Amino acid sequence: MEIYTLTMLYALAHFLRDKTPWIWTMLDVVNSALFALRYDRKLNALETRIMAKYTAKAGYKVCRMRDVNASQLVDFFNNQPKEAFKYFKPHGFDEKSILSLQQNKSFLAYVLLDNDRIASYCFNRSFFHGKGFRGRMTGINHRGRGLGTLMNKLLNEIAFGIGLQLFETVSKDNVASYRSAVSAGDFKVVKELPNNELFLQIIQ
Ligand SMILES: CC(C)(COP(=O)(O)OP(=O)(O)OC[C@H]1O[C@@H](n2cnc3c(N)ncnc32)[C@H](O)[C@@H]1OP(=O)(O)O)[C@@H](O)C(=O)NCCC(=O)NCCS
Repeated sequence: MEIYTLTMLYALAHFLRDKTPWIWTMLDVVNSALFALRYDRKLNALETRIMAKYTAKAGYKVCRMRDVNASQLVDFFNNQPKEAFKYFKPHGFDEKSILSLQQNKSFLAYVLLDNDRIASYCFNRSFFHGKGFRGRMTGINHRGRGLGTLMNKLLNEIAFGIGLQLFETVSKDNVASYRSAVSAGDFKVVKELPNNELFLQIIQ
């Protein structure tokens, strides 16, 4: 039953986002407010400590997405090759979309800064009923240095620290993404989706 509900919710979220963006935007505002009510205090108690821990581990400064200029994020996305977006379509990459995500309290997103330039980006898109969905992108010049795995671990620690259940979809064909999921910890395959995609639940 749980698997059925999860996959239905996943399909519904994608349908709303792609076909009726105004409903998606409205639900996003409500979700952001409810999420803040339920989780803000827990998040404040641990986020800064976890960001400092991963700054020391990575050798790059970890900071919240909302603390960098939207234009810097737009530049980061614009500077990635087309192949980087083959499996990565979580939201718009224009300034308006980024500004709206920065104001969304349930979109727990972080960047790693290499001398003030964005090296990588990751997020848990979270929902007030206690679920989060993980995603990340390593800048093309910083790939293969362990940042993908490190970001997964950071996202896990934040999500589990505030008591979320964490999920992600990954394509079996996206080898680096799948391997970074494997290296970051345990997971179970909730469901095999069409097009070689796996719906994973990350295990604490
Ligand atoms: C997926 C992605 C974030 C991985 O980032 P990364 O920083 O290069 O990953 P890491 O250096 O941590 O490597 C993770 C694992 O993948 C392997 N890997 C990295 N690049 C690889 C490649 N091109 N081919 C095969 N394996 C690769 C690494 O060897 C490592 O494996 P290991 O843990 O078994 O040693 C990055 O490739 C990316 O941004 N892709 C585009 C966006 C995307 O598809 N995001 C995922 C969907 S949400």
